[in-house]
Amino acid sequence: MPSKRAMLGWPRRGSAVPETLLAGPAQAPLAGRVRVPGDKSISHRAVMLAALAAGETRIEGFLPAADTLATARIMEALGAKVIWESEDKTRLRVLGTGMRLQAPSAVLDAGNSGTCARLLLGILAGQPFAARVDGDASLRRRPMRRVTRPLAEMGARFPEGDEHLPLVIEGRRPLAAITHRPEVPSAQVKSAILLAGLFAEGTTIVEEVRPTRDHTERMLPVFSQPIVREGRRVQLHPKGALQAPVMPLVVPADPSSAAFLAAAALLVPGSRVELVEVGTNPRRDGWRRILARMGAEMTEDRRRLLGEEPVADFVVESVPQLKGVVVHEAEVPDAIDEFPVLFVVAALAEGVFELRGAAELRVKESDRIAVMAENLAKMGARVQERADGVRIEGVRTLQGGVELDAQHDHRIAMALAVAAQRASAPVRIRHAAEIATSFPSFVELAQAIGMQVRWEDA
Ligand code: S3P
Repeated sequence: MPSKRAMLGWPRRGSAVPETLLAGPAQAPLAGRVRVPGDKSISHRAVMLAALAAGETRIEGFLPAADTLATARIMEALGAKVIWESEDKTRLRVLGTGMRLQAPSAVLDAGNSGTCARLLLGILAGQPFAARVDGDASLRRRPMRRVTRPLAEMGARFPEGDEHLPLVIEGRRPLAAITHRPEVPSAQVKSAILLAGLFAEGTTIVEEVRPTRDHTERMLPVFSQPIVREGRRVQLHPKGALQAPVMPLVVPADPSSAAFLAAAALLVPGSRVELVEVGTNPRRDGWRRILARMGAEMTEDRRRLLGEEPVADFVVESVPQLKGVVVHEAEVPDAIDEFPVLFVVAALAEGVFELRGAAELRVKESDRIAVMAENLAKMGARVQERADGVRIEGVRTLQGGVELDAQHDHRIAMALAVAAQRASAPVRIRHAAEIATSFPSFVELAQAIGMQVRWEDA
């Protein structure tokens, strides 16, 4: 007879990877000073450009998470040497290939990471060999034509299909330079084309409908590759091999990770949390602008640059009553990864919150509109799903004692753990192991500021 746990479908006790969170409600105000781990987008780009460059690049503040470690492993499989300088894998040296990657002997596994897969395809498009790229079940469902189409136009071939992973890419050198106007605002698409542009003859141009995160454009000149930017138009004319920078690349704390702790501090009465060295790149700062409109107070201190990226320390204090706002399509790219946690704040705000023009959320690590609507509804929130967004009517408290399902999406799992801080009783969040893809120390840091959250099955 199977155990009750097994019948309920909960993981076996002692299973190797904990995957069920027990969260909330907060017992006291949250407090503390935290530096969340390194920025995921910047960590991917740092190790990719370092692997291409001639010479040795030092990277500090690297994000040691499953997604970025997948990228590091892939760049090693393509011939770069990665030397870890600290046990926690935040400091490394990369001996680059001088633009001469080697053909991989095995499948390149991007795991859960869309950024890894799509930027990698851009690099592989310009290599004189074929490679097979794959990912986990979630990544295999995500659309790839947004990169494979323009890369095919530049000369790459996809002999076994171009829509989904796994796929085979046959690169070519030189590629043909193109002018590309992505249909959806996407930094991953823009970056893939620019990386392919390094191996093209002529000037590669990307013209965006709406501006997206510009970490690639900021970092390429650090590797001696000039970029010309005029409004939403980015141009790259290859100057030869990328050159490793003399100074170490220092990665800011990830604003997308900081957003979870900031939201928790806003929602738990009496809280005051400091978040240090957080990236404040305007293309990543949409969540703070939206929260400010909702009435959040986050003071910014010690504004400075870490290399090409702006950072600051924030103090976040709880606000007795935040209010709902309307978020329009134009604001979506700058907050694209923060909507799960913004929905949580909205569920507890006064009045109505509406998001429009965000259909892109349906093709992230999960369908973030459907999965958040379903889970928040289980907690008694009033959420109406729309094809391209949501309408949320705020309530005073959320119900606890329910079982939620993060559906293997890291940001859904963390957003629900934040929601649980204001629930009437603990909640169980299943399929949450993917937190390790972007913020492996989430539970530890959340506990450090006083959030109630732990792995049930650790
Ligand atoms: C990323 C770009 C965004 C974002 C993702 C990281 C990047 O995706 O959602 O988490 O590092 O370029 P899209 O470019 O597909 O919108």
